[in-house]
Amino acid sequence: MSAQFPVARPRRLRRTPALRRMVAETRLNPAELVLPMFVKEGITEPQPVTSMPGVYQHTRDSLRKAAHEAAEAGVGGIILFGIPAVKDGHGSAADDPAGIVQLALRDLDSDLGDSTVIMTDLCLDEYTDHGHCGVLTAAGEIDNDATLERYASIAVAQAAAGSAVVGPSGMMDGQVGAIREALDGAGYQDIAIMAYSAKYSSAYYGPFREAAECAPRFGDRSTHQQDPANADEALREIFLDLDEGADMVMVKPAGPYLDIIRRTRDAVDVPVVAYQVSGEYAMIEAAAEKGWIDRERTIRESLLSISRAGADITLTYWATEVARRL
Ligand code: PBG
Repeated sequence: MSAQFPVARPRRLRRTPALRRMVAETRLNPAELVLPMFVKEGITEPQPVTSMPGVYQHTRDSLRKAAHEAAEAGVGGIILFGIPAVKDGHGSAADDPAGIVQLALRDLDSDLGDSTVIMTDLCLDEYTDHGHCGVLTAAGEIDNDATLERYASIAVAQAAAGSAVVGPSGMMDGQVGAIREALDGAGYQDIAIMAYSAKYSSAYYGPFREAAECAPRFGDRSTHQQDPANADEALREIFLDLDEGADMVMVKPAGPYLDIIRRTRDAVDVPVVAYQVSGEYAMIEAAAEKGWIDRERTIRESLLSISRAGADITLTYWATEVARRL
């Protein structure tokens, strides 16, 4: 009896780095990476975020510098989050033309020109004294429809200050439609909406709440953000947002929700965006700091996996670093 040798040998194409490079199915490109950035009013030095090593709450000046570096590295875009000096029940600073994000947008607009896309997160939680994503009723519950009016006004303020893409992240029903109508009514038909459509009520947002100083004072976000147990519901949210005029749809977080990214990619014909959130970042940084994993390889693998699952664009706090390496 002769020995049995395999005819099919997948290892042939894995033999050398050049072969592996040629047959790779997924490739990361700096243009698909978007850097989330925090800008804080009333500080004179950038403040490090303890739970996110390497991430800062920026001053207007340090934001300009970091945004310039990101653009130079070739990132596809940046997305701004603002932390106002004064918060109140309605989040008044969010749509104030002199609010921190609007000022930062004007700085960046003149600095960056068309080298990268300047986007804005659109929510109230960084701006309200109670830390919720909307305005509250007398009973202390989120008032969905009153919140839509606030979002509409914030969208117009951000567009007026130079945001090319607004990203509503509050998970209020009807938010995309309300924002689209407001933008169109104010002459901003060309400003795009990146809808945080399938945003889960996630423990992975922990470090962000330090970075953006937006932890809710009471309660949580589970009456508006999605239950991690659900997947079909994500598709329902995505189709509602597309009907209301979303130009791109987002799944968030990314790594723990690769199934949702894949189902979304298979179901829609607009760009699919994934947000690798603060907790995903913090876990890898913390394990790497302890020497338990190889930092660069893990970062690369995490982003490759998100892309392989079907994301066209990924928001990641490593955007500049990774773009430089590519
Ligand atoms: C809400 C918002 C959050 C994040 C982005 N936009 C926080 C939340 O919903 O509590 C989280 C991002 C991250 O964890 O990196 N404005």
